[in-house]
Amino acid sequence: MDKKVYIESYGCQMNVSDSEVVASILAKDGYTAVNSAEEADLVLLNTCSIREKAEYTVLQRINEMNNLKARKKGLKVGVLGCMAERMREDLLEKKKVVDLVVGPDAYRTLPELLEQVGTGQKAVNVLLSREETYGEIVPVRLDTNGVTAFVTIMRGCDNMCAFCVVPFTRGRERSRDAHSIVDECRDLVAKGYKEVTLLGQNVDSYKWQQKPPVGSEEIASVVDFADLLEMVAVACPILRIRYSTSHPKDMTDKVLEVMARYDNICKYIHLPVQSGSSEVLKRMNRGYDRAWYMERMASIRIHMPTCAISTDIIAGFCGETEEDHSQTLSIIDEVGFDMAFMFKYSERPKTLASRKYADDVPEEVKGRRLQEVIDAQRKASSRRLATYVGQEHEVLIEGVSKRSTEHVYGRNSQNSIVIVPRYAEGVELMPGVIVRVAIEHSTAGSLKGRLLAMIEQQIA
Ligand code: SAH
Ligand code: SF4
Ligand code: F3S
Repeated sequence: MDKKVYIESYGCQMNVSDSEVVASILAKDGYTAVNSAEEADLVLLNTCSIREKAEYTVLQRINEMNNLKARKKGLKVGVLGCMAERMREDLLEKKKVVDLVVGPDAYRTLPELLEQVGTGQKAVNVLLSREETYGEIVPVRLDTNGVTAFVTIMRGCDNMCAFCVVPFTRGRERSRDAHSIVDECRDLVAKGYKEVTLLGQNVDSYKWQQKPPVGSEEIASVVDFADLLEMVAVACPILRIRYSTSHPKDMTDKVLEVMARYDNICKYIHLPVQSGSSEVLKRMNRGYDRAWYMERMASIRIHMPTCAISTDIIAGFCGETEEDHSQTLSIIDEVGFDMAFMFKYSERPKTLASRKYADDVPEEVKGRRLQEVIDAQRKASSRRLATYVGQEHEVLIEGVSKRSTEHVYGRNSQNSIVIVPRYAEGVELMPGVIVRVAIEHSTAGSLKGRLLAMIEQQIA
């Protein structure tokens, strides 16, 4: 019998990518992925624990499943991902509607767990692994535009940023077999994809050891992130390559050199700064200070003058003073980030900060500081994107604009959204084409331009 699964992803790109691995494992078990909970026999929520609000959103969504279950006899509900790992059996206690709880390293056991669930029992597997990378599993692409895809290159995180729950929900860091990554990218090219984003919590510490054949005298060779980027860039010359996330303490010049050398590696780096204050960075246990971050920034600009930089910022971390906060505002101005994700600090159980520091910045102060950070960033983005006006950019078209069916949107190498008219001289711009665009207008969030020429598949 054909069984139907609906998977909903919350949180980071890593979860989106994991859901595609889950879909692949379940496809072998006879499940077809569908696009709504209403159609499904099994609903899986792939969840995030990064901030309290993220968990709250999922808990609300779980409540909605009560109604659905009442209407659909036999429907099963599972919780996957970081909240499953963090809350474990408690989730079953708290939310009776949940049948299944599976952590990020236990997805291969889903078929057995579902069998158990099928007999009316509850099932839990939240074991973390030191080895699991799902390396050879070919993901089933969900909700895809057929143009861009995520490829996970490593799992877990060995850093201990004081605010962060990820090391507890995702376990130890491990890198996926470099050849399986290259194969997956080649396969995407064969299927018509035009862009990949290589994913890891800290891609700069990617390290994979090629073991020599048994009995041979060859020395094991180590592939680092720069080597991996180069392998993908060479193997897939018509594929655009992006990656996320870099860590300022580990980002090497070797990576910057490889990026500069290959035209098909996009000139864009997401480099979370978190705070502009060295004092705060120290308490955050980030392993760098403001001066180090600025030095990395300078190195990026030397290697790639056109490179865009985006960041993550936390407002109101433990002990943050007005002076610390003003340093965050000033680093936003000084760097001129193209884009930023900005958050209020949210204390997470088990983290270093929750054990060591008081969450002592009052809620209204956090709110006000976050707004000031957002305002400063809006200015920085506007200023930065305005410098693109008058330039010519190569844009990969991703789809029809949500605001106007007369326009399509895509991204330039710098990862900014570029809007162009959908029809030009009787030709319709379809997702997947790469066009040369004259940038004519900018806002804080996107660019608008005019089509100059279609580009054949020859980025490299
Ligand atoms: N691995 C990435 C980030 C992962 S989480 C890195 O090292 O940068 C994504 C972002 O969420 C973080 O960069 C941080 O800005 C934010 N974040 C993480 N924990 C948080 C918390 N407890 N409260 C508020 N924001 C948090
Ligand atoms: Fe969290 Fe730090 Fe690891 Fe990023 S590098 S996932 S912020 S612990
Ligand atoms: Fe959230 Fe887990 Fe990603 S906590 S941000 S889904 S690694």
